Amino acid sequence: MGLEKNVDIAPAAGRLGVLLPGMGAVGTTFIAGVLAIRKGLAPPVGSLSQMGRIRLGKRSEATNPRIADYVPLVGLDDLVFGGWDVYPDDAYVAASRAGVLEGHLLEQLGGDLRAIRPMPAVFEQSYVRNLHGDHVKAGASKMDMADQLAEDIGRFSDEHGCERLVGVWCGSTEVYREPTAVHQSLEAFEEGLRRSSPDIAPSQIYAYAFLKLGIPYANGAPNLSVDFPAMAELARRTRTPITGKDFKTGQTLMKTILAPGFKARLLGVEGWYSTNILGNRDGEVLDDPESFKSKEVSKLGVLDTILQPDVYPGLYGDMAHVVRINYYPPRGDNKEGWDNIDITGWLGYPMQIKVNFLCRDSILAAPLVLDLALFLDLAKRAGLHGIQEWLSFYWKSPAHAEGVYPEHDLFIQLTKLKNTLRHLKGDELITHLGAEYYDGDDEPDR
Ligand SMILES: NC(=O)c1ccc[n+]([C@@H]2O[C@H](COP(=O)([O-])OP(=O)(O)OC[C@H]3O[C@@H](n4cnc5c(N)ncnc54)[C@H](O)[C@@H]3O)[C@@H](O)[C@H]2O)c1
Repeated sequence: MGLEKNVDIAPAAGRLGVLLPGMGAVGTTFIAGVLAIRKGLAPPVGSLSQMGRIRLGKRSEATNPRIADYVPLVGLDDLVFGGWDVYPDDAYVAASRAGVLEGHLLEQLGGDLRAIRPMPAVFEQSYVRNLHGDHVKAGASKMDMADQLAEDIGRFSDEHGCERLVGVWCGSTEVYREPTAVHQSLEAFEEGLRRSSPDIAPSQIYAYAFLKLGIPYANGAPNLSVDFPAMAELARRTRTPITGKDFKTGQTLMKTILAPGFKARLLGVEGWYSTNILGNRDGEVLDDPESFKSKEVSKLGVLDTILQPDVYPGLYGDMAHVVRINYYPPRGDNKEGWDNIDITGWLGYPMQIKVNFLCRDSILAAPLVLDLALFLDLAKRAGLHGIQEWLSFYWKSPAHAEGVYPEHDLFIQLTKLKNTLRHLKGDELITHLGAEYYDGDDEPDR
């Protein structure tokens, strides 16, 4: 990927169309949230692009501009929203049904939300078993479906006068599948589309349509979608940025906050048992063992890479890591996560930590959709393409270059993201090296 110092970044002029395959709880909480923030009805809490600041230069200089003022990000007033869903409900109805945002807030946004109607979806029942909608496309082949999506994207862009577009999958979690022969090269994948290979999932058809058009694309769910060689090849050819998958919210966010702390203090971890109850449609879909398997694999990967049991076998070598999700309708979108962590201290003495997180799934995910849309658009305008490791911050499964492990530690991820922004602007990277290592008075205080 072409990361250069002080690169020319095209201005964020004109409208950015944000297209979401899947307009359920997360999708509508994101859209309604941006509309509410635009009207000054609520603050953009949880969004690094809107509330985050970035330190420049020495600590003594106290220069901390807002990220949104530092790099040219598109303004919220210039965002337009669209998407696809297997249910025909407009964004107002879908948001009301999702039950995340309160009725009085949705009422104030009603007209704008009602105007956002999903386009018919590319859908295949075998990939999401517990979902039964009929707002779906018909087509002669999977390639034909991809062409129809490209037409949808072009029409949306024309109708809304978009200068640029980004896509973020906010659809249901598809069943777990390993890549097969059709995923190994672009040629094989396109041939697979033409003969409607059963190994090609609907989410991959969306990804193909976006990347073919050179539109940055991210996958909010844990299923296989852009993370295989054919898509990497397509992204390279069309010079399109791609990134990781499965929004890092809730329990996994807590894990990647806590685990780096244990490791920093060399506290051992004998076991980490995590269980969740949630009652939204996502929970219902994850009640299918095959969809849960996609989630489980994504959630389990996190601890091993942070704690490095191979490097620290005495502390983390025999760790038991268990993750459960149970569908429990009364809880709705307000997921409850429990963690029991068995840690060890000095001389191997055992201790326990219990975390009970009563969270709101879509409230945690919506700002990530916003940041990803804005940063992927920035990446495209900066000429970055292929895997964007600096966006690992947002993912349970960060995309990474071949031959290296993904970075899961939230704090390293944030440093990486901010240093990438400094690098793009040609500013000095912050290394935190202490002033005591410099001779002269005027040497930098890091
Ligand atoms: N909320 C979080 O904290 C969080 C975190 C990580 C990942 N996710 C993932 O984000 C996704 C969305 O979560 P949600 O709570 O909004 O779920 P949801 O069930 O409310 O919404 C998903 C929507 O996608 C639609 N859909 C499914 N297949 C589709 C297809 N092929 N094309 C178009 N639309 C399709 C469904 O009809 C539904 O409306 C899920 O995969 C979930 O696992 C959510």
